Amino acid sequence: MVFGKKDHLVGLDIGSASLKVCEIAGTKKGRVLKKFGISPLPYGTIKEGNIVDHENIVKAIRELFKNSGIKEKNVALSIGGYSVIVKKINVQTMPDDQLLETIYFEAEQYIPFDINDVNIDFQILGESEVNPNQMSVLLVAAKKDIIAEYMDVVQRAGLIPVIIDVDAFALQNTYEINYDIESENVALIDIGASKTSLNIMKGNVSVFNRDVSLGCHQINERIISIKNCSYEESETLKLDEDAGLSMDERQDVISSIVSDWCIEIRRAIDFFYSTYPDDHIGKIVLSGGGANISDFRNLLAEETSAEVEIIDPFKKIDKGQFDSNYLQQIGPQASICTGLAIRRVDDK
Ligand SMILES: Nc1ncnc2c1ncn2[C@@H]1O[C@H](COP(=O)(O)OP(=O)(O)OP(=O)(O)O)[C@@H](O)[C@H]1O
Ligand SMILES: [Mg+2]
Repeated sequence: MVFGKKDHLVGLDIGSASLKVCEIAGTKKGRVLKKFGISPLPYGTIKEGNIVDHENIVKAIRELFKNSGIKEKNVALSIGGYSVIVKKINVQTMPDDQLLETIYFEAEQYIPFDINDVNIDFQILGESEVNPNQMSVLLVAAKKDIIAEYMDVVQRAGLIPVIIDVDAFALQNTYEINYDIESENVALIDIGASKTSLNIMKGNVSVFNRDVSLGCHQINERIISIKNCSYEESETLKLDEDAGLSMDERQDVISSIVSDWCIEIRRAIDFFYSTYPDDHIGKIVLSGGGANISDFRNLLAEETSAEVEIIDPFKKIDKGQFDSNYLQQIGPQASICTGLAIRRVDDK
């Protein structure tokens, strides 16, 4: 695939702990990483998916683009968490012109928000596996007010939001360009600072999605309650083994939080198995900052009997001028913005 300059986009991932930006060029020899940048956001800038401090984010986006040397203004961004519902549904096979109305009608029963408050999108997956007179449709509903908030900060930063994607799909995009399709189901799980998104794929079709409000911030909260420290201090205590938490304290905090994550992930996977009893999840691919926690990876492998690995979003991308060790270190956190960076203007 060759990207023309005109349909080229910059991927921008607005996370609650950090902003990530990425520019990937399409060349005759393949994709080349041109620009990448990450910058932390002060605690509380985004809470429960809502942008609390608009000014701060606008400033941080401007600075990150400037410091990363990005001139391109067209961006692809994504949203996730509670503001997005992704669900596979079955509807009677019908002509396209009737489908939209049916989907809106069907959507109401699956969406915990007023139908007027969401934007609905869908993708036809094909004939239903259970009933040949029905077709499977992937329904996506995203809250309008959240989309408006994210578009607002991006526009105020002088950029043009061309594509608004869903975190889980951006991640799937990254996975698909870097890995071969497996015969067994693969679960992609992104554990960020305040949200976790799970996407189970069958081949390259997403069959089960769930986003929950779990993430690495929980570790900070636990450290703050033990040490009575500031958020910034808790971040240092979390990341630096020699910063002042005893081995036991550290172990206790991490074990209790990661076991909560595993319980929640198990619950989602069990639900998937109840719908697809003959399927097997052979591999779990982790991304987001939480993927770096080895205790979590080990426990998850034990709990799910699946192979657990960390995603490499740059596996099949020419790393250009970037240091491989640096990319390996930030890879898990970069995986959503790389998936956004390879979207094209004419993608849906
Ligand atoms: N090695 C590590 N050990 C523990 N936690 C880590 C490690 N590396 C990163 N983190 C944590 O990961 C979190 C950031 O991950 P990420 O960038 O995926 O979050 P985000 O995208 O900003 O958040 P969200 O998507 O939930 O809004 C921070 O809380 C950070 O402390
Ligand atoms: Mg994130």
